[in-house]
Amino acid sequence: MIRVASEKEEKQEAAEKAERGLTAEDMAKDFKEHSVAEFFKKNMQMLGLTGKIKTLTTIVHEYVTNSLDACEEAKILPDLEVQIKEIGNEYYEVTAKDNGPGLTKETVGKALGKLLAGTKFHRMVQMRGQQGIGASGCTMLSQITTGKAVQVITGTGKGKPLSLDITIDPKHNEPKLANIQEIDKDFKGTIIRAKFKGVKYVNSEQAPLEYLRRTAIANPHAQITLIEPNGEKIAFKRTHKEIPARPMEMKPHPKGVKVDELVTLAKYSSERKVSSFLKNNFDRFGDKAVEDIQKNVSFDINKDPKQLSWEEAEEIVNQFKKINFIAPRTDGLIPIGEPQIRKSLETIVKPEFISVVTRKPSVYSGGFPFQVEVGIAYGGEAGRVTEANEEGVAQRKIEIMRFANRAPLLFDSGGCAITKAVQSIDWKRYGMKDFENAPLTIFVNLISVHIPYTSAGKQAISDEDEIMEELRLALMDTGRKIYTFVGKQKRLAEKEAKRKMYYKYATEVAYAVAELTGKSKKDIEAKLHSIVLKHLKLEEQREKEALEKGEMTEEEIEAEYEKRRAREKKEAEKNGKGKKSAAAEESGEGE
Ligand SMILES: Nc1ncnc2c1ncn2[C@@H]1O[C@H](COP(=O)(O)OP(=O)(O)OP(=O)(O)O)[C@@H](O)[C@H]1O
Ligand SMILES: [Mg+2]
Repeated sequence: MIRVASEKEEKQEAAEKAERGLTAEDMAKDFKEHSVAEFFKKNMQMLGLTGKIKTLTTIVHEYVTNSLDACEEAKILPDLEVQIKEIGNEYYEVTAKDNGPGLTKETVGKALGKLLAGTKFHRMVQMRGQQGIGASGCTMLSQITTGKAVQVITGTGKGKPLSLDITIDPKHNEPKLANIQEIDKDFKGTIIRAKFKGVKYVNSEQAPLEYLRRTAIANPHAQITLIEPNGEKIAFKRTHKEIPARPMEMKPHPKGVKVDELVTLAKYSSERKVSSFLKNNFDRFGDKAVEDIQKNVSFDINKDPKQLSWEEAEEIVNQFKKINFIAPRTDGLIPIGEPQIRKSLETIVKPEFISVVTRKPSVYSGGFPFQVEVGIAYGGEAGRVTEANEEGVAQRKIEIMRFANRAPLLFDSGGCAITKAVQSIDWKRYGMKDFENAPLTIFVNLISVHIPYTSAGKQAISDEDEIMEELRLALMDTGRKIYTFVGKQKRLAEKEAKRKMYYKYATEVAYAVAELTGKSKKDIEAKLHSIVLKHLKLEEQREKEALEKGEMTEEEIEAEYEKRRAREKKEAEKNGKGKKSAAAEESGEGE
């Protein structure tokens, strides 16, 4: 018979423990195991699910990235609809619908009701998701804030679509499915409907609408609709009708592999020998590398990979460091592309000028291929609208749009390599004296088979040296193009101001000469005007020829003008004690 301790005895024991401290046996009684689901349940902030506004945006992000990934894999032009309904105070329902491949009866539960489960974690492929906790994290959040299940409808095109409710059993990190029904409708894709408390819909720079606007810019092949809580429907139309190429799965490169990864891969390998395991599972691994490794390790590499010990794996990784492997393959990376970025920015930002640069793929940490795309939009609706000035005209400030594998990053901007790279550039060299207040939208997309996020919340990219270098080169290149465009615009305006000024003088001179000579004022004026035009044209012609012959670059021409402007300003100050030059007055500069 089990004797249950009386309340008095329990109290006495607790008092004794408090007095003497705990023994290992006392602690063993409290020793428990937790599932990964229980861990994340307590640490939702690690998934970016924290803060009322941020949480709602992150939920939208998780569903939308999954839909885009699934459509890309299935080679389907994505048609997405997100609806956000307010159903109470800080209580919302989010419905995300896609026309993707759908989920089978066997996988739907795991996909949305089991943490660290999915089709992406173990693969080296350029995708938005990579961990297997995005959508399932949302299911968990819905459950712990409302006690309700997530409703799913999914159709694969084979058999009838399914409707079901999903929750997670946090103790075991296993999905619980209920109300499974077949539905009598044609539907291919996935609809997820989930309720959340403690979230808030607003219209700000970090809110779902902005998130989807940016998603549309980086995914011009997607059609995205948002239905806001007030019922308003906002559609971002597809501007590019071709399905992007499917990113290729790549093998890990030996230079990027750590000992524990090697041990894990070896454990799950179906190869019979370590030598063939290495050859078939790693990028750029040839017979020569196998030979080199065999010569330099203390064991026979024909042994079973499942038997590979930590020390042996360590020996192999040490050899990886010494061998000169060819750099990783980079052809599996799929950038958005210059014409598509240009079209997107034109449609959504409507700027005066766009400069886009796609750098060649590169490699970080020796083993991970990545590529950088930068687009800078200048003027028009580029930049972020801030408060109106005294005349009531809306002001614009610089706007940095960060993307990782085409997914917008709206939070943690300070800690992100993209922000750091933008800030590290001396924009004054590119003619932007007041960079923070320039009408600029800077679009940066980093693509990789493995984005080095700073945390599981996937909002900031870590500043790996090679990534920073590529970001800076792309930004400087685009900056240079903006500089020459802005310089050209300025020169044109100055020339026009000069022409107007000379014409004004020409009229006065023509009047005086006509008086003195008795000749037609009109003829004299026309002649003077043609001299002015010829003079200005000559200057233009000289610049054009210098450019064509390669004697000068656009930047050098602009630098010459800058010098001339400074000279003229100095002279004007000397002559008119600070008065503006006539040309500057005409062009309205400095007002
Ligand atoms: N709309 C969808 N259509 C098809 N499959 C989906 C959809 N949403 C999720 N999945 C599947 O469910 C899996 C789990 O999704 P989840 O968002 O939890 O993780 P992930 O996308 O793999 O990685 P991450 O945690 O980085 O988002 C995905 O890997 C995918 O296989
Ligand atoms: Mg995901």
